[in-house]
Amino acid sequence: MRRFLIAGNWKMNTLRQSGVALAGELAAVAVHEEAGVEVLICPPYPYLLPVGERIGGSAVQLGAQDVYFESPGAFTGEIAVEMLKDCGCRYVLIGHSERRAILGETDAVINRKVRAALAGGLTVVLCVGELLAERQSGQTEEVLDRQMEGGFSGISEAEAASIVVAYEPVWAIGTGVTATPEQAESAHEHLRKWLARRYSLAFSEKTRILYGGSVKADNAETLLSQPNVDGALVGGASLKAATFVPIIEAARKLAN
Ligand code: PGA
Repeated sequence: MRRFLIAGNWKMNTLRQSGVALAGELAAVAVHEEAGVEVLICPPYPYLLPVGERIGGSAVQLGAQDVYFESPGAFTGEIAVEMLKDCGCRYVLIGHSERRAILGETDAVINRKVRAALAGGLTVVLCVGELLAERQSGQTEEVLDRQMEGGFSGISEAEAASIVVAYEPVWAIGTGVTATPEQAESAHEHLRKWLARRYSLAFSEKTRILYGGSVKADNAETLLSQPNVDGALVGGASLKAATFVPIIEAARKLAN
């Protein structure tokens, strides 16, 4: 049985005070480790330390939204894996569609980041997903395959055990348009089959595949109840405890 992962991607939101306050509310909800559900938050870099301090002692995990692949050195503006670890991060998001589209990240760059993060001992949430035009022209599976090939390139099965995949159809991110449970399940099933072909059936069955794209309290339970949906990567609704906690609760209900 795969453990649900409910992850909040705060993106470029919150200030120190509001971020720490939100973290405190979540720490009060996810007090102890649970067999069925894991909770993760990914604040902006400057708030990793105070947010990490606030969730210390709770079951809420800390992650970053990106990382650079080089070791510390002359890379102005970038952040190294060991810095994230030093700030208490266990997780890092890599390949989010906003980084692909706005910052121009290619599958090759994403792969270097994945490899560096794994080598440094972080768990990677590798984001993949098709654009609206790609879905409309029937290219969804081809795009997902290309992003998976790129992201997982040169990574052994043992290393890949520290990768969580997040399927985020770009047309559903921040738009209020959620993939239907059937659309999500079909993409997730496709991704799991890809993992089985690339590695092994046993590996594919252990790997968590999250859904992201306008996940909210009122659609979380239906999405999470799909057999191949193992959690959610939540943007907008992760910015308030009142909208994020019900998603955690939906996972708890299904896990028990
Ligand atoms: P959203 O964002 O929940 O606001 O659609 C999801 C994401 O980009 O991870």
